[in-house]
Amino acid sequence: MLHTKLEISFQYHRDCSKLNGIQIQLLNEAFGATKTAYAPYSQYFVGAALVLEDGTILKASNQENASYPCGICAERNLLFYYGSNYASHKILKLAISTKSRNPTLQYPPAPCGLCRQVLVEYERNNKSSIELIIGQPDQDVLVFPKCEILLPFGFLPEHLNPSRT
Ligand code: THU
Repeated sequence: MLHTKLEISFQYHRDCSKLNGIQIQLLNEAFGATKTAYAPYSQYFVGAALVLEDGTILKASNQENASYPCGICAERNLLFYYGSNYASHKILKLAISTKSRNPTLQYPPAPCGLCRQVLVEYERNNKSSIELIIGQPDQDVLVFPKCEILLPFGFLPEHLNPSRT
């Protein structure tokens, strides 16, 4: 038997002072997108924004439904819109923000498991890392250099079909 440990490496910023211009802009865009969230059931408003290589910024928010499982998270809504319209463009960074935050928890809320799975596949198709910036403007912020860090042992296209490797 082999015992193996996994370590994850990320930045935790107590405030936004050390973030660069595009990181701050993207966080503001994601926070702004919380205003477009349709979340009458959970009252939990999430926004996401990504920047492409050419500087284009795309935004989306979570969209719920009276039939609860029909709803979609902000991150997947954003990535599916990107995939439908800009798939040939490289994504550089993606920011996620929520309108409110539980002050008793140490870190800002990171993407749910479904969104991590989708992020990882888009990141692979992107052929370069997508930096994740998580938090609210002027608050503490998490920065992950790539999505893969958030989902070790993710389910990959190669698992389905070995000839894709
Ligand atoms: N939600 C997101 O948009 N992103 C996440 O990563 C977690 C959850 C949404 C889904 C639902 O509309 C609401 O937040 C409460 O779960």
